Amino acid sequence: MSDPSLLKSPAVKLAGVPGVNMPLESLVEIRDLNFTYDNRPVLTGINMTIPRGKVVAVMGSSGCGKTTTLRLIGGQLKPTSGEVKVGGQVVHELDSDGLYALRRRMGMLFQFGALFTDMSVYDNIAFQMREHTDLPEALIRDLVMMKLHAVGLRGAHGLMPAELSGGMARRVALARAIALDPMLIMYDEPFAGLDPISLSIVGELIRKLTDALGASSIVVTHDVQESLKIVDYVYFVSEGKIVAEGTPDDMKNSEVPYVHQFVWGEADGPVAFIMPISAVIAEPARLANSRAATTGPSSRTRDTETRTPRASVEP
Ligand SMILES: Nc1ncnc2c1ncn2[C@@H]1O[C@H](COP(=O)(O)OP(=O)(O)O)[C@@H](O)[C@H]1O
Ligand SMILES: [Mg+2]
Repeated sequence: MSDPSLLKSPAVKLAGVPGVNMPLESLVEIRDLNFTYDNRPVLTGINMTIPRGKVVAVMGSSGCGKTTTLRLIGGQLKPTSGEVKVGGQVVHELDSDGLYALRRRMGMLFQFGALFTDMSVYDNIAFQMREHTDLPEALIRDLVMMKLHAVGLRGAHGLMPAELSGGMARRVALARAIALDPMLIMYDEPFAGLDPISLSIVGELIRKLTDALGASSIVVTHDVQESLKIVDYVYFVSEGKIVAEGTPDDMKNSEVPYVHQFVWGEADGPVAFIMPISAVIAEPARLANSRAATTGPSSRTRDTETRTPRASVEP
């Protein structure tokens, strides 16, 4: 990206929109947030701050509540108790006009990028501009091409999503997420399913786009290695609670067992791969016979006796 100013499009800056000119240091404040689905606690006592201009990661294994957190910030869900403030406003107290105005200042990269499959790349990016502004088509065209340029894909404007590689599709989704120059960009698993090269390109783009726009970003991911390279701050979530937080260096040096296991990609730890004991008791003879038949006694010994899991809990 040679000229970050290309990302800025003053024509779609919106006057009087919540949060835009507020002198607050933090853009998002989450306080004592609890959320339950059908009486089942999903998030418990969450406190998070997303400062302006920073990239913050929310990490944790599948099902720990990351997407739910984003949906609470975006106002698609309401807290059971506690609150989420964006730009100084309590999201769940906004009326529908207020929520609409707030959402047009938020960019979202959905899990797996999720482009509109029946629209060209160009139309995917133009969609929100047409929906939320009354800009003439000629100006929309310039803005779409600027956004595509920002992700290195000017030449792809006429393609359909099915014609894109996974990495290209994700970059188009990034361009679409910044279509309206958001103050807050939320990325749900932006690295999922990408090859290592696309993965670093997307990581670097997240950082550069955030900086060029002067926005704040929240990256929800279980991809620790890639995120730690680009983020300013990390919250680690386990089973709906924050178990650790700090800078990427803090996380690399963390002695919290869950964080250590996650950061260093270890198989054993608080998140354990456990075969339920009942399965072993139920079929000991069949298991022993089939192992003896396929791998022989020496590998059975290696598998079952020398590998001693550390203290672990059922996931
Ligand atoms: N619509 C829903 N109804 C009931 N439970 C849900 C719903 N959506 C998610 N959950 C549950 O909430 C928990 C957190 O989900 P989610 O936030 O999607 O996790 P993550 O994004 O970290 O993988 C999971 O246990 C999931 O099964
Ligand atoms: Mg999720």
